[in-house]
Amino acid sequence: MKILGIETSADDTGIALIEADGKFGSDFKFKILGNAVSSQPVHAEYGGIYPNLAKREHTKNLPEVLETALREAGESLEKPELDAIAVTVGPGLEPCLWTGITFAQELSKKWNVPLVPVNHMEGHVLISIMEKEKLAQFEFPALALLVSGGHTELILMKAFGQYEYLGRTRDDAAGEAFDKVARTLSLPYPGGPEISRLAAYARSEKLPKLLTLPRPMMHEDNYEFSFAGLKTAVERYVNANELQSLDREKIAREFEDAVTEVLLFKTLRAVEEYGANTIVMGGGVSANKHIRAEFTEKLEAQGAKLLVSPPEFSTDNGLMIALAGYFHALKKEFIEPNLLHAQGNLDLNQT
Ligand code: KG4
Ligand code: ZN
Repeated sequence: MKILGIETSADDTGIALIEADGKFGSDFKFKILGNAVSSQPVHAEYGGIYPNLAKREHTKNLPEVLETALREAGESLEKPELDAIAVTVGPGLEPCLWTGITFAQELSKKWNVPLVPVNHMEGHVLISIMEKEKLAQFEFPALALLVSGGHTELILMKAFGQYEYLGRTRDDAAGEAFDKVARTLSLPYPGGPEISRLAAYARSEKLPKLLTLPRPMMHEDNYEFSFAGLKTAVERYVNANELQSLDREKIAREFEDAVTEVLLFKTLRAVEEYGANTIVMGGGVSANKHIRAEFTEKLEAQGAKLLVSPPEFSTDNGLMIALAGYFHALKKEFIEPNLLHAQGNLDLNQT
């Protein structure tokens, strides 16, 4: 089956074409025929995403991104050979989601190809459980830690498609905290890679500790998270102190350590409580090198393993949507183009 995946839920415009075969299991395999992502530099100067600006950029980028993906796949631009078009319907910013949906509706009618609605977070899960164009070997129950600009959630997966939310963030998402702390430190958006770069420098140079940030909710007996206080603590420090050379590096390291420790501590507790030995980590924050390294080491010590995508596929892309779309297309979960609509708060159990 050939599936086109379209992603526009935040500020990345992503389109990919895959060829996939087999059911969810050891006989599943896929090939990336074409893949293109266009990120929106316009948000850098504002320090965050402006939905209407993002919407305008998606509308402008979609035809170009489609053309790049189809050319790479050696497909006709007029009428490519396709079995389905998968498109993100939520969760995300509704004006942005609508641009992808409208584009998918037009293509579906023009090419006479059925549409599959996809949950963005399921896309993050699916791309994380792939290994070299196949499914990685693992057993259920598995835990999914989804950490992105809009979400921080710990989920128990008893089988493919069965999601039980154990906990989420009560305020800011982990990625949002990276972005806000970056802005406080006058670093550009998206803040994750910038903070990570400064923190790595502080570690490699063994810079002395400057401050101690809280580990919010770490020892509370639940799987909830809270990251807004961390951002406020950094703001308070920066407002009260004149930053010296290399202070930003030290703050970045302490902030990254705090986020990592909280995520890891709660995940390890869930590993024990639910007897899961596979942890699937997905979403933009899972591109973070320090978080990956800490998770890999501590999970191995506990006899569990981490499944995570190559870092370039941790942030939003069309490939993850094509993959999720494939499994729903297999079950013939198609939808009439006119019935598609954006669902900003879509839950994993709703698609
Ligand atoms: O999944 P994603 O691309 O978009 C959403 O669905 O939100 O995640 C974007 C988020 C941003 O907040 C960005 O700062 C964060 O992922 N991010 C990172 C890193 N790369 C991206 N956070 C920490 N470390 C990184 N290396
Ligand atoms: Zn995402």
